[in-house]
Amino acid sequence: MGTASYQLLPGKVALVTGGAAGIGEAISKVFARHGAHVVVNGLPGDPVQDVVREIQALRGSAIGIEADVATEVGARSAVDLAIQTFGKLDILIANAGIFPEQHEIPEFPPERFEEVLHSNIRGVFYSVRAALPALRDTRGVILGAGSEAGLMGVSEAATYAASKGWVHAFIRSVAAEQSKYGIRANVVAPGPIDTEMTRPTKGHMKVKTALIEERSPLFGRRGTPEEVANMYLFLASDLASYCTGGIYMVDGGATTTTVMSGVEAKSEAKQAPEGTVELKHQYAGRGTLS
Ligand SMILES: NC(=O)c1ccc[n+]([C@@H]2O[C@H](COP(=O)([O-])OP(=O)(O)OC[C@H]3O[C@@H](n4cnc5c(N)ncnc54)[C@H](O)[C@@H]3O)[C@@H](O)[C@H]2O)c1
Repeated sequence: MGTASYQLLPGKVALVTGGAAGIGEAISKVFARHGAHVVVNGLPGDPVQDVVREIQALRGSAIGIEADVATEVGARSAVDLAIQTFGKLDILIANAGIFPEQHEIPEFPPERFEEVLHSNIRGVFYSVRAALPALRDTRGVILGAGSEAGLMGVSEAATYAASKGWVHAFIRSVAAEQSKYGIRANVVAPGPIDTEMTRPTKGHMKVKTALIEERSPLFGRRGTPEEVANMYLFLASDLASYCTGGIYMVDGGATTTTVMSGVEAKSEAKQAPEGTVELKHQYAGRGTLS
């Protein structure tokens, strides 16, 4: 990892919710590589302290906190830690989210619905609410984890898709409301990314849903966590000074097509690019909600 030869986030303080696994691990490590002080958040059971140690071992700056950011207390404790440790907060990455087991709606367990509401909706609301006073001081940035699922219907995953549609509308509303304080807010909407979430052998996604990667016309592969983190990096940086209220797709073109054109992708295109940070917790996103 080391430091990048040019740094896009020197001295910035970033809180990454769900920042110890999957896409969140990549965001935490890419941001640290670009000079940010990173507060790595996750649930109990997530490799939060591992990611902190891995960042520090490469002379990056990070501190960890296990907290359920879908509670007012948990979200506030993560923001407070950023301010106590690093003196301010510049960037909130509201990345924490879950993909529930898949069922048609009549069979969808109410307790799973509550978990989706909890992490994917309350988690975004409470972390944004807790961060805003500090972000007004720094004219900061909020980025939320949307999804291609928030733009398209997903069979047997209606609650997940709807929760992401909520994130899109909520973050855009934050952009509209908070711009007078100099705050920018955007959504990063990934397609199929290679994490625990999209691996049917590891997470809840059914094989037929995971085949969304075959819709990626150019590649016919899942995106890497770092390919998503790079969009977060750009939007969090001053390079994106004119960007607010947007939904930025990182989906390999999956939402451009209704057919599985990825099956025709050339085999060399299926080779993911080499990353700049070492990911050790790509498939470790299984923290437990109390
Ligand atoms: N992987 C994909 O293909 C994909 C596609 C579109 C959108 N997304 C979104 O991107 C985000 C990250 O996805 P991922 O694939 O890295 O997931 P992941 O399951 O690998 O990691 C998510 C992390 O968030 C943590 N988390 C969940 N609820 C939390 C809470 N209330 N408080 C604190 N931490 C919490 C989990 O324990 C886990 O460590 C999610 O919001 C997801 O919906 C992912």
